Amino acid sequence: MYQANNKRYDQMVYNRVGKSGLKISALGLGFWHNFGSVDAYENQKAIVHQAFDLGMTYFDLANNYGPTPGSAETNFGHMMATDMKPYRDEMIITSKAGYDMWDGPYGEWGSRKSIIASADQSLTRLGLDYVDIFYSHRPDPDTPLEETALALDQLVRDGKALYVGISNYSGAQTAAIAKIFKDLRTPFIIHQPRYSMFDRHIESDLLPVLNELGKSAVVYSPLAQGLLTNRYLNGIPADSRAAKTTSRFLQPDQVEKTLLTVKKLNEVAKKRGQTLAEMALAWDLRQPEIASVLVGASRPEQLVDNVKALNQLTFSDTEERAITDILHVHEKNNK
Ligand SMILES: NC(=O)c1ccc[n+]([C@@H]2O[C@H](COP(=O)([O-])OP(=O)(O)OC[C@H]3O[C@@H](n4cnc5c(N)ncnc54)[C@H](OP(=O)(O)O)[C@@H]3O)[C@@H](O)[C@H]2O)c1
Repeated sequence: MYQANNKRYDQMVYNRVGKSGLKISALGLGFWHNFGSVDAYENQKAIVHQAFDLGMTYFDLANNYGPTPGSAETNFGHMMATDMKPYRDEMIITSKAGYDMWDGPYGEWGSRKSIIASADQSLTRLGLDYVDIFYSHRPDPDTPLEETALALDQLVRDGKALYVGISNYSGAQTAAIAKIFKDLRTPFIIHQPRYSMFDRHIESDLLPVLNELGKSAVVYSPLAQGLLTNRYLNGIPADSRAAKTTSRFLQPDQVEKTLLTVKKLNEVAKKRGQTLAEMALAWDLRQPEIASVLVGASRPEQLVDNVKALNQLTFSDTEERAITDILHVHEKNNK
């Protein structure tokens, strides 16, 4: 039986989510890759145990994570039932609905029908009575915002979620739905956007809106799916995401296009006494609106490295400038 490390809360940082009462770990674990029915269960368990032993309390799932869709929730549900049950109240477990999940018109997007049916399916797969945060995974251009907001609100009122969040909404969409949640008194506390050195679109659009609203972000793909690590410095390893045929989200040509920049950033990281992954995570966490960075991992050791980001979170002006200059050149060359 798994026994959690009793020093797990000693080194992790816990950040308050906006103006809510909730704190989450500065690093969260994502289940998008490496937790499907195609992946070894024992390795999944080792990653989850490592995360929890490092003080990570935020576990990020969605209805369709796999492959096969739903299998990440089923696998994690099995771990909850067999290993992690005594720790349920130390964990923030989340799920989402919005991307393609089942056949027909109700298996995706943001209608009341889709959101509530999907949440019920997720709870069954997870074997839980409630999730801590339930997200609308993406804005739905064809469903009124009120309908999506009311469906999320209903999940809270029915005891199926404690808080709600949104993901991939623009700044303007976030401001609009926040107003509806405010009127409903829904505990909407968090936004989940993509953010990394290679994707800075939220800096001008979303972060000022979150700041104004007093909400936080938990950002996904902070390592640009592994590009912002030492994973590809010497080619594409056979067991990496870019080489895997079960994932179409990171292609070898993206590795090629970013390699020169990654090498330059790696030199800055070395001077700071960090790995590139550590520096990339610290760089995201320097934004005051960002409560947590959501990392993926294919092995437990990656999490041990990533958590070391917390040892050096600040950047000198010289380091900031060096990174910004490298990123400007990269952006110019990839227009
Ligand atoms: N809301 C949304 O629409 C949305 C979209 C995407 C993701 N997400 C969430 O965000 C989570 C994280 O996304 P992501 O997996 O793309 O995040 P990421 O942290 O940018 O990339 C994770 C990958 O980076 C590599 N890696 C991690 N730590 C490393 C280290 N220390 N050294 C070397 N390589 C390292 C691993 O690649 P290898 O597998 O090659 O080892 C790992 O699978 C997802 O699991 C999901 O929960 C949400």
